[in-house]
Amino acid sequence: MAKIKKAFFCSECGAQSAKWIGKCPSCESWNTYNEEIISNETKQEKQRSSWDNNKEKVLPLNLAEIKSENTARITTHDQELNRVLGGGIVYGSLVLVAGQPGIGKSTLLLQIATSIKAKILYVSGEESAEQIKMRADRMKMNNNDCFILTEINISKILQTAEKMNPDILIVDSVQTLSSPFIESAPGSVSQIRECTAELQKFAKSRQIPTFIIGHITKEGSIAGPKLLEHIVDVVLQFEGDRNYTYRILRTLKNRFGSTDEIGIYEMMSNGLREVANPSELLLSQNEERLSGSAIASTIEGLRPMLIEAQALVTASVYGTPQRSATGYDAKRLNMLLAVLEKRCGLPFGQMDVFLNMAGGLRVSDPSIDLSVITALISSLENIYVNKHICFAGEVGLSGEIRSVSRIEQRIQEADRLGFETIYISKFNAKGIDQKKYNVEIKTIAKVDDLLSDIFA
Ligand code: TYD
Ligand code: MG
Repeated sequence: MAKIKKAFFCSECGAQSAKWIGKCPSCESWNTYNEEIISNETKQEKQRSSWDNNKEKVLPLNLAEIKSENTARITTHDQELNRVLGGGIVYGSLVLVAGQPGIGKSTLLLQIATSIKAKILYVSGEESAEQIKMRADRMKMNNNDCFILTEINISKILQTAEKMNPDILIVDSVQTLSSPFIESAPGSVSQIRECTAELQKFAKSRQIPTFIIGHITKEGSIAGPKLLEHIVDVVLQFEGDRNYTYRILRTLKNRFGSTDEIGIYEMMSNGLREVANPSELLLSQNEERLSGSAIASTIEGLRPMLIEAQALVTASVYGTPQRSATGYDAKRLNMLLAVLEKRCGLPFGQMDVFLNMAGGLRVSDPSIDLSVITALISSLENIYVNKHICFAGEVGLSGEIRSVSRIEQRIQEADRLGFETIYISKFNAKGIDQKKYNVEIKTIAKVDDLLSDIFA
């Protein structure tokens, strides 16, 4: 008789334990263990052979003799997607598109499905065929070779896919899939792992590129794409602030290319639009001379982007001043305020400070520091900073302006967009030829220099 085996799994990282534990020893998150039924393992155990009774011989190949195929790729019309995938969709690859609910994952993949000249099987466990049709109509897209299947049983899905032999398979979403061989509910760790492994086998053996959508929540509480990262070939994260229209498709893992690339989209009423030239969109077109904003020349992935940092500094009415940062690390903001207070004697301690990155983007490049402190001082002193100046520099604890990577690329972007002046760290200036650029390059060494140079 089949023995039912149960185990506890961490919904965050998929670690397994025989008993319930409060804190996961592998990813250190709390309260993530759930009990799940794992299938009757006795059959698998019988098949499992030890090293000496294995009759089948498996031969290793000499690396030198393996034919190196030039990885064939399907190039899509979507340049941003081609870029993040490292030049197009690789045959037989398994690509996970992860993101928070409602960010636009289904829209992105339906758009790919309907814009590419290929036979597509779009499997949806979340929406009905009519809903998908409505969305496709809204995007004014149609591909006569795009087929919709609403099904959650992985065996049936793969049987259909096998018969149909599509060029691309899309599964929306992995959390809805269920395997008849696993007892636990769809979305549980063992179901997700089993179904993804099946899809992986299918993609590899038939050489059909497969996209799977995975939801993550803010807290990552649903059995999440994290544990799939090991199985799939490519992990793309679709992110952005739902209140803004910009979306970034970021490569977190890519077995066929670099992970430095990002794709930028704008969510329109009729689908996602590629943004080939992000700088021009991210700068607010406000020509008024308002204080509290400064422009940074940053690099996201491999692409230079000019982003506006906006700050509001007001006298605090409560004992403890408020600090709030959107698109920027709040701890880093506190650090910069402490640096300004200590090195320049500015009274930020009694001020409420609000910081915002225009466009709702999350910026992790430290080169934005210099524009953040400029925006802060500008708002505090109520002095306008010329919109034709941009900044690129990291601020250290002692108030020094540190050098940043790829400075030439940043200067080039500022030059291309017609900026008059760019401020960079003194330590970045070596080897930079001012004659090559129209933009004037000014160097600074300490935060105090800002006060004497810009706010004089
Ligand atoms: P969706 O792709 O369903 O998100 P996900 O699959 O990641 O959960 O789309 C989410 C949002 O996008 C939805 O709230 C509406 C918006 N949207 C547009 O603004 N324009 C469009 O053309 C479409 C199709 C969706
Ligand atoms: Mg969806």
